[in-house]
Amino acid sequence: MVEFARLSGGETVLEVGAGTGNFLNLFQRAARRLVGVDLTPAMLYEARRQWPDMELIVADGARLPLESSSVELVATAQTLHHIWEPLPVLKEMRRVMASEGKLLVVDQVATERFEEAVMMNKLETVRDPSHASSRPPSALRTLLRVAGLDIAAEKLVDEEGRLSQWMSPQEFPAARIEKVRDFIDEHGPTTGMDFRRDGDDYVFTRLRFMALARSH
Ligand SMILES: C[S@@+](CC[C@H](N)C(=O)[O-])C[C@H]1O[C@@H](n2cnc3c(N)ncnc32)[C@H](O)[C@@H]1O
Repeated sequence: MVEFARLSGGETVLEVGAGTGNFLNLFQRAARRLVGVDLTPAMLYEARRQWPDMELIVADGARLPLESSSVELVATAQTLHHIWEPLPVLKEMRRVMASEGKLLVVDQVATERFEEAVMMNKLETVRDPSHASSRPPSALRTLLRVAGLDIAAEKLVDEEGRLSQWMSPQEFPAARIEKVRDFIDEHGPTTGMDFRRDGDDYVFTRLRFMALARSH
């Protein structure tokens, strides 16, 4: 990830939707300053406990309490799919990005088939009611362009997952895991996630989109 972001060293890195700080921490050695913004205080509380050197701010990504053109790398990872209207967030990220700076977007995506995207999002919402929308790569490209950004580098990465890890019993109530199992049994082949049975478990494939963008 750090290599993909092409940091030259000494930059400020801001992450919107930093959560518990795991992604932002990847840049610890490469960056001079790490700033994490998140809407949920409990997430930042946990981040602060783990990474005391990070600057952590409770705020909405659509209204960043940061000066314009002040950040060399503005990132967001695994967060846009929790946001129904990502355009104001991307525009705000662009506002705080330094004129020669970069914007990094990482997010899980649906396939380009509309019906598969609908079913994947239904499944994601059964699993996590805070899910908004996993978009196809073409939608994220369009959003970046409309936000005034040009993609300088892009990667689509296939990632294999397991239901038992995606919904660990320590994290999810048994009834929710059962609902997701039922959904996969009935609709799995229509989600574009290539569900395969593995004993008592399910294995699946998901696409992750990574783009590094600059201002037009
Ligand atoms: C799945 S977590 C990702 C955490 C981290 N980026 C990672 O990859 O480990 C999504 C985070 O986005 C935050 N979030 C959702 N909507 C947001 C918004 N409008 N502004 C800022 N953060 C938001 C949530 O509170 C949550 O912590």
